[in-house]
This record gives sequence, C-alpha cells and structure tokens, in this order.
Amino acid sequence: MKHLLSTEDLSLSNAIRILDTAEEMSAVGDREVKKLPALRGRTVVNLFFEDSTRTRISFEAAAKRLSADVINFAAKGSSVSKGESLKDTAQTLAAMGADAVVIRHWASGAPHRLAATDWIDAAVINAGDGTHEHPTQALLDAFTMRRHWATLNGTSSAGADLRGMRVAIAGDVLHSRVARSNVWLLRTLGAEVTLVAPPTLLPIGVGQWPCSVSYNMDETLEKGVDAVMMLRVQGERMNASFFPTTREYSRRWGFDDNRLRTLDRLGLKDTIIMHPGPMNRGLEISSAAADSHRSTVLAQVRNGVSIRMAALYLLLSGDTREPAATPAAYSTNAAYSTKESH
Ligand code: NCD
Repeated sequence: MKHLLSTEDLSLSNAIRILDTAEEMSAVGDREVKKLPALRGRTVVNLFFEDSTRTRISFEAAAKRLSADVINFAAKGSSVSKGESLKDTAQTLAAMGADAVVIRHWASGAPHRLAATDWIDAAVINAGDGTHEHPTQALLDAFTMRRHWATLNGTSSAGADLRGMRVAIAGDVLHSRVARSNVWLLRTLGAEVTLVAPPTLLPIGVGQWPCSVSYNMDETLEKGVDAVMMLRVQGERMNASFFPTTREYSRRWGFDDNRLRTLDRLGLKDTIIMHPGPMNRGLEISSAAADSHRSTVLAQVRNGVSIRMAALYLLLSGDTREPAATPAAYSTNAAYSTKESH
C-alpha cells in the first residue's frame, strides 16, 4: 500500500491490517509515555484546503506520537486556480522532503491527482475530498463498531470483521464523504448497511450502492439496528433548499429525544449512536442523544488518533530507507528509552 485514497478500493486484508495495527497503537496511547520512535526522521505534511478541527489535530497527534516531524499547511483561501495551486504546493512540499502528505481538499479527486502525478513522491493520505471520500473517518468508525461488536459478542476484535452487524447511516448522504467511505468499507467488512434520508438528500444512482435505502427512520429502527450513524447537515455545500424547515428535518430525520426512547421501548439496549462531528445539536442529533451512554462521539475522536497512527505507520514503514520496527518491538516504555539512548 503506497497511498490511502479511498475505502472503495481497500481490500479486506488491508482493512483488517489497519484496524489491527490501530489496536496496537491504541495500547501505546494508554501508556504514560505515549510515544514510539517508529517514524523518527520522517516528515508528515498536513495540507488542508478546507476547514477541519478533529481530523487535522488527530493526524498531527498521530504523527507526533510516532516521532515524525509535522508541518501544518493551511492552504485555505488560496486564489490560484485549482490545478496550478495544487501542483505548486506539491512541488514546494517535495522540495521540503515530505514523506507523507495528508490532504483535505474541497475538490473531489484532488488526493488522487496528487498521488497519480510525479509532482511529489510522498505517500498521500486522503483526509476528505469534496463530497467523495474520507477513508480514515470510515476506518475509525469501523474500529469503534468492531470494538463494540466484539464486547457484545464476548470475542476479541483482533482479526475480526463486522459480519452480522446492522448499521443505519442517516441524514445528508448526498453531501457526505463520510457516508460514501463508510458504505464501501462496511460492505467489505460484511456489515448490513441501510441509508436513511429524505429523497432530496440521496445521490443519483444510490440504488446501485451495496446497501439498502429507506426514507423512514422509525421503520429502520423497528427492524432492529446495532449502530445508528448520524450525518451532519452540510449547509456549506447546499446551494438550494433540500428540506422544508429545520424543525421538520429533526422531527423526521434527526435522532431526537423521542427516538432515544424508541430504542429503549424496542429493547435495543446495546444500539450505539455515532456522529463524525462537528454536530449540529438540535438538528440531526439532540443533545440528550449526543450525550447519552449510547453515544460514541468521543470514543470515535479517540480512536481516530490510533487509526491515523496505523495508517501513517503502515504507509511509511514500507519505505526503503531505515526500516521501522513493528509497534510490538516497542512494547514498554522502558524499551522506548533504550532505543532512544542508542
Ligand atoms: C466530516 C468531514 O469533514 O467530512 N468530519 C470529520 O472529518 N470529522 C463530517 C462533516 O464535516 O460533517
């Protein structure tokens, strides 16, 4: 694996490898010294052409925990034309010796472009491109679901897929790269996915996606569901009116207090409520739902660091220069200090 651009072309074995490596990375996060020397001397550039809080900070924390050097480059607001600005920027980064470029761009396909050209020889990680894909978000979501599923089934998550798990992804599917990346990855991992949205917020051709589609949230809950992933209503990508009023939207499509009670009434005591953030509280999710014991919102953020450590580690340790040791080689804090002093 040279780049991580999408989940659509991610094989089952690579997906499981990333999830398993993230479990090892997560164990590092539980230690007093949260750092591994694995990527010492490597440079990771965060190239963000679009706003981000969680994703950018998470990649920064991940790279730093692996001892890489991190350069944050907020390219938002650049007035140069798309192709040129990307090329110029990439060549600048190449000149600085970037080993990995984490790119978020408003244009769908920008990370693929960067990976396909000879502008730069770095590993490219897609941190969200337009309405297309957001692979590390889907991986951290799958990681969160896999842990939950393993706990419920009394099994270990290592090596496991998500066969048998029922997942509803609800809301603004049309503008959501999170939904797309999740549909592809969850299909690969064997989960059953239902998209729940108003017809106006579903993309053309959704009938060909490997999932079911419903226009009715309550019916979907009644059928039984193990995880409900709420999507943000992406106002910034809407150039028209996609639903009558925000009140109507939250009543029909949002996860409100009534639906929280519905889960209890249906006896779905283990169903989790997910959201990639940032949340529009009171619109697609009520505060009671977001803060309930079912909510995995903060666990998702935590797991994001482990997933991004795994992605950076797997992409960069395949580098032909000084080989990086496996995470297991640094299994204790003492091992870390020994390596450091040599
Ligand atoms: C998502 C994104 O940027 O696509 N957020 C994230 O990465 N945590 C979802 C969103 O913005 O709604």
